[in-house]
Amino acid sequence: MEKVTIIGAGSWGSALARILGDNNHQVLLYDRDEATIEEINKYHTNIAKLPVGKLPDSVKATTDIKEAVTFGDVLVLSVPTKVIRGVITEINEVVDKPKLIVNASKGIEPDTYKRVSEIVYEVIDNDKILGFVALTGPSHGEEVINQMLTVIAAASTSQEMAERVQKMFSNYTYFRVYTVNDLIGAELGGSIKNVFAMAAGMLYGLGYGDNARAALITRGLSEMRRLAVALGAKEETIYGLTGLGDLVVTTTSFHSRNFQAGVKIAQGKNLKQTLASMSMVVEGARTALSAYQAARKHNIYTPIIDAVYNIIYHQQPVKEAIDELMLKALKPED
Ligand SMILES: NC(=O)c1ccc[n+]([C@@H]2O[C@H](COP(=O)([O-])OP(=O)(O)OC[C@H]3O[C@@H](n4cnc5c(N)ncnc54)[C@H](O)[C@@H]3O)[C@@H](O)[C@H]2O)c1
Repeated sequence: MEKVTIIGAGSWGSALARILGDNNHQVLLYDRDEATIEEINKYHTNIAKLPVGKLPDSVKATTDIKEAVTFGDVLVLSVPTKVIRGVITEINEVVDKPKLIVNASKGIEPDTYKRVSEIVYEVIDNDKILGFVALTGPSHGEEVINQMLTVIAAASTSQEMAERVQKMFSNYTYFRVYTVNDLIGAELGGSIKNVFAMAAGMLYGLGYGDNARAALITRGLSEMRRLAVALGAKEETIYGLTGLGDLVVTTTSFHSRNFQAGVKIAQGKNLKQTLASMSMVVEGARTALSAYQAARKHNIYTPIIDAVYNIIYHQQPVKEAIDELMLKALKPED
């Protein structure tokens, strides 16, 4: 049995607590939001983030970061990536002994293009890090909290740590975890796919159909492969659960906040209005900026990422961006 602290009691953190509780691990959820923590401790629910579904009674919650960090031998990060630097700085101030860090958040930092593993090793004293594993793949909290069949991956440079996380989360009923040895590829795939999820929502919002979505998924996959490989990923990882798998689930599901944000933007809201109207994190917006910057730096051809970037950061009308993509010179597929 593992002692696990989950940092971030949102949609995904709560769903992960469900799995770990079902697997008989000791779980403490941490969040800065007092109302959420009180609701979890009193009623074992998180209605605002997961309207249908309950947490096991054994799962406890706290707003005290020191108590949270001291409790777990394993720390699972599940907060929006824009607060990761701040949150792990707080963790570093109170961490008492080496911990296994498992990251479940998906994003790349703008300007630095850093993945979460890079930020963690930069901010937390390295003698307090036992290992780092990215837990990522096609998964919506709304399904996991209701014990619906889900298969994702534990990616790490350490096979031992990846297997520890695999065993911790797998339960032979509804949740199965594969190990992956390409941490860079897994982190990049899980992050970049959110840009295409926004694009899929934009297509849907303008009334395009399944043909357009299928084109987006396949051409998006090409872009994701080109960019991720340039940034150090293995090509095969992009075709696995953490790349293609996550790309498919997020471009085809209304559960995806990134997809929902894309729909709103296509219907005329700007990014600020869209984000203000959503109670949950939309990682794709920030990742569109980081992916666009990284693609320019490495001179990688990313027309769809560029279109999403221009739509959300330069207010280009969605229809105009789509017309520009359609008017590009005809060429072989790859
Ligand atoms: N929701 C999903 O199904 C899902 C699945 C896989 C991965 N993810 C990833 O997990 C991460 C979290 O997503 P989510 O959907 O749970 O988001 P969410 O918006 O539902 O929850 C985020 C939580 O983080 C808390 N938080 C924010 N800033 C904080 C801070 N400074 N200190 C402490 N707590 C803070 C918020 O109070 C909130 O409870 C994202 O990177 C997302 O891409 C989500």
